[in-house]
Amino acid sequence: MKVSVKVPATTANLGPGFDCLGLALPLYNEVTVEETVMPGSGIEINIIDENETYDILSIPKDKNNIVYKAIELLYNFIGQSVNDIKITIKTNIPVTRGLGSSASVIIGGLVAANELLGRPADNAALLSIASEVEGHPDNIAPAMFGGFCLASLEEDGSVTYSKIDWPCDWKLTVLIPDYELDTRIARSVLPEKIKIQDAAYNIRKCAMLIDAVYRKDSELMKKSLKDRIHQPYREGLIKGFKELNEFLENKDDILGCVISGAGPTILVISKNDGFEKVQNDVKKIFEDFNVNCDIRTFNIENEGTKIL
Ligand code: HSE
Repeated sequence: MKVSVKVPATTANLGPGFDCLGLALPLYNEVTVEETVMPGSGIEINIIDENETYDILSIPKDKNNIVYKAIELLYNFIGQSVNDIKITIKTNIPVTRGLGSSASVIIGGLVAANELLGRPADNAALLSIASEVEGHPDNIAPAMFGGFCLASLEEDGSVTYSKIDWPCDWKLTVLIPDYELDTRIARSVLPEKIKIQDAAYNIRKCAMLIDAVYRKDSELMKKSLKDRIHQPYREGLIKGFKELNEFLENKDDILGCVISGAGPTILVISKNDGFEKVQNDVKKIFEDFNVNCDIRTFNIENEGTKIL
C-alpha cells in the first residue's frame, strides 16, 4: 500500500512576523510513502527533481533525511519503530530559496505515513512533530492548511494556529534568484539579543498587519510590512533587496516588499496588477547585480495539503 500527498510552497515571516506568520503559494511538492515489498530492505529514498534544477543533490537519502526523521517521530509517537519504508519526493518547489520546501516535504511525509498507519495522529500531533523537525511553525501551518496563517510554537511543543482570509485582490510575487541561501546561515547572522525599541516596533507592526489582513485594508498593510529584527541583519546576504525596497517605496498598488522566509527569495505584495506595472524596472535592478531572477506572480493557495 502507498499514499501520495501534495503540499504547497510557503512564504514565511511577511516582514514583522518572524517565526510566526506564513502563507501558502500554488507551487507543490509531492511525497509518496509506501511499505516496501521486500521485508528487510530498509529505507529507500528517491528524489525526483521535476524541473531538473539540480538543487536536490545535497539532500540526504538516508536516516538523516528530514522526511524520514519526521516519519520516525510519528512512529515513536504511536509507540512503534520504522522498519522498511520507501519515500519518493517529487520536487517542484525550489530548494534553499526561502519557499518552504523543507516544511512541504516534512508535512507530506507525515500526512502520508499517518494515512498509511490508519490515521493514529490528529492534526495537532502532526503540527507539533513537523515543527519539532523544522524548528519553527511559520511554514508548517500554511503548508498544512493553506491560506494565511499565524502559528506559535508553545513551550510544551504544541502549535497554536489561526487562519485568516486573505484579500483576493492582494497578489503575491516571488522573485526567486539563481543562488541558494541555507536557512542555517541566514539564522546565524541574527543577533542573540535585540533592542527593546526594535522588539516594540515589530510587535506593533505585526499587530497592525493582522488587522490589515482581517479588514482588507491596503493602506494599513503598507505601513505594516516592515521589520527590525531579522531583515536588517539578512539584507547583506540578499542581493538587490535594499535597492528593490527603495525603488518600490510609494509605488502605486505596491503594498510592500519583504524577504521570503530566510531568503534569498523576495516577496512583493501588490494590489491587482501593481507589480506588472513595475516589473521591467525590477528586472533591471537584478540585472545590475548579475542575478537571474525567476519572477512569478500568484494568488494565495487556500487549500493546503491534499491526499491524492
Ligand atoms: N522564520 C524562519 C526564518 C523561516 O526566518 O528563519 C525560514 O525557515
